[in-house]
Amino acid sequence: MQLPDYVRIGQVQKGLAELLQHSFSAIAVLVDENTYQYCYPIVAPILPQGHQIIAIPSGEQHKNLQTCQQIWQALTNMQADRNALLINLGGGVISDMGGFCAATYKRGIRFVQIPTTLLAQVDASIGGKLGIDFQGFKNHIGVFQLPFCVLIDTSFLATLPWRQLRSGFAELLKHSLIADWQAWHELTRAHHLQDVDWQKVVHHSIAIKERIVSQDPHEKGLRKILNFGHTLGHAIETYFLENRPAEQGLLHGEAIAAGMIAEAWLAVRKTGLPQQEFEEIKWHLLQLYGKIAISQHEIASIAQLALQDKKNQNGIIQLSLIEAIGACKYNVPATVKELKEALLAYCQMPAEIHDNNGTSIDQVGM
Ligand code: GLY
Repeated sequence: MQLPDYVRIGQVQKGLAELLQHSFSAIAVLVDENTYQYCYPIVAPILPQGHQIIAIPSGEQHKNLQTCQQIWQALTNMQADRNALLINLGGGVISDMGGFCAATYKRGIRFVQIPTTLLAQVDASIGGKLGIDFQGFKNHIGVFQLPFCVLIDTSFLATLPWRQLRSGFAELLKHSLIADWQAWHELTRAHHLQDVDWQKVVHHSIAIKERIVSQDPHEKGLRKILNFGHTLGHAIETYFLENRPAEQGLLHGEAIAAGMIAEAWLAVRKTGLPQQEFEEIKWHLLQLYGKIAISQHEIASIAQLALQDKKNQNGIIQLSLIEAIGACKYNVPATVKELKEALLAYCQMPAEIHDNNGTSIDQVGM
């Protein structure tokens, strides 16, 4: 399957050396404290002398206008002109926010994404969605702009904690659920994340996304299917960000996994997803991600947050719901009441998973 023409998968040093054959007036590298420590040393020997490092704190809570101002200020201080290059070295926050700052600085300078997390490799850095959170709403302010280049090196994944890897894996599972039945079966056959052939599955997952995005780059229609699990997933993620202590914070993919279970429950009722396929999805996702502890009294607030979802039209909630594993519909209208029912169904699912013999599996195992 075809990769987008701006994506290179392979050794990052080689990709960067080729890229730097183009001429740029200045080069800045955007990092956070983690990618500065673990990833910058890998690319630093390839970068020309005099490049600038722009360091920002890691975490979704910093994906905001204030941090953008720091980035624009740093570019201004180094007198970056329109021929400058910004290299975004990091996960989804760095690629979304760094890309947004580059796309708006002096009406746009070139930027390169070097995604270092699985989530950013298969999703955030692909397809040109850039942006920041605003007043608690995820990716509320942003633009569409393709990067000059995306360099994907799956050896970065070895630097990730297991929870981060599992979070990114949710987007691979989502790509398979919406568009590739066979990929779903291959991905769920892996017993442990460390057994996965990352180069192969990342390549395949990007190609699935590209097949969708190339038909609808600005999300007027088909691209909305990439948001399966995200209406409720984002609402859960936002709710936790605002209402729970940092130590209970959810990673994006963890919230999306819960969102996919709840939306698949709704899909049985609204788009005819077969019950047996729902059970299969629920089983695999609960086994890998466990269950997020949401209390029944929190459901109404979470469902309300979904009213801000960018897919909604004329105040009507529009969901992307699968109709079978590998096939997804978009613009499926839903009410707040239905979202509450789906969240309640999720809350009432047993946290313990049973295998086909009824034996309890209490360790989230992959
Ligand atoms: N992350 C969904 C999209 O790029 O459309």
